[in-house]
Amino acid sequence: MPSNLRVKVWRGGAGGDFSTYEVPRQASQTVLDVVTYIQRRLEPTLSYRFSCRVGMCGSCAMTVNGVARWTCRTHVSKVVDGDSLEIAPLANLPVIKDLATDMGEFFDKWARAKGRFRGARARHDDFARIDPASPERIAANAGIECIGCGACYASCDVVAWRPDYLGPAALNRAWTLVNDLRDIDQAERLRAVAGDAGCHACHTQGSCTERCPKAIAPTAGISGLKRLAARRAMRGEL
Ligand code: FES
Repeated sequence: MPSNLRVKVWRGGAGGDFSTYEVPRQASQTVLDVVTYIQRRLEPTLSYRFSCRVGMCGSCAMTVNGVARWTCRTHVSKVVDGDSLEIAPLANLPVIKDLATDMGEFFDKWARAKGRFRGARARHDDFARIDPASPERIAANAGIECIGCGACYASCDVVAWRPDYLGPAALNRAWTLVNDLRDIDQAERLRAVAGDAGCHACHTQGSCTERCPKAIAPTAGISGLKRLAARRAMRGEL
């Protein structure tokens, strides 16, 4: 194992450039450890984002050697190219500074896709009983662990081509809610995701599914939305 890593890190905004740092190599070192070392020891003005460090909050995603990844759970040994690492902000999002991107539009699209739960029951009502083995609950469970890291969104060519596309994360969220039998906004949600920039814009390239660190398959959920929207449209319900 080489004793040092040569790490190129994006500095500045969209018109910035890479700066190179030497970072000591350590056993079990993560990419987030490398970025933190640079910020604490070499370049205190380096901006980046993280919180939990254990793969739960979704805030630490960056582009590592050209691929969007969660950095707190990406070991250097799995991604290093010789002794080189290149760390850049996520693609398809505006760069605020260095490795920090503006996630505003990403989460606005969740709102546009009606990605929030609305039930009919009040606090004194009995709770709904959902069969955990029902096809709807199984479909919802398959997508529910999304942490909102944006790796899928940054990997999606359709988002790059047409910035109004809702994107894999928002559509995956909509798919989990479409399959939540307690939710009462189903018609409104389906109309929101069946529009021109919604599920039908997906080209089924599968980069989102390949890159999701939580092993979610947004491509499958988006296909489910397409089928459901087509069925409702043929019945005149959209
Ligand atoms: S710091 Fe929370 S997922 Fe990486």
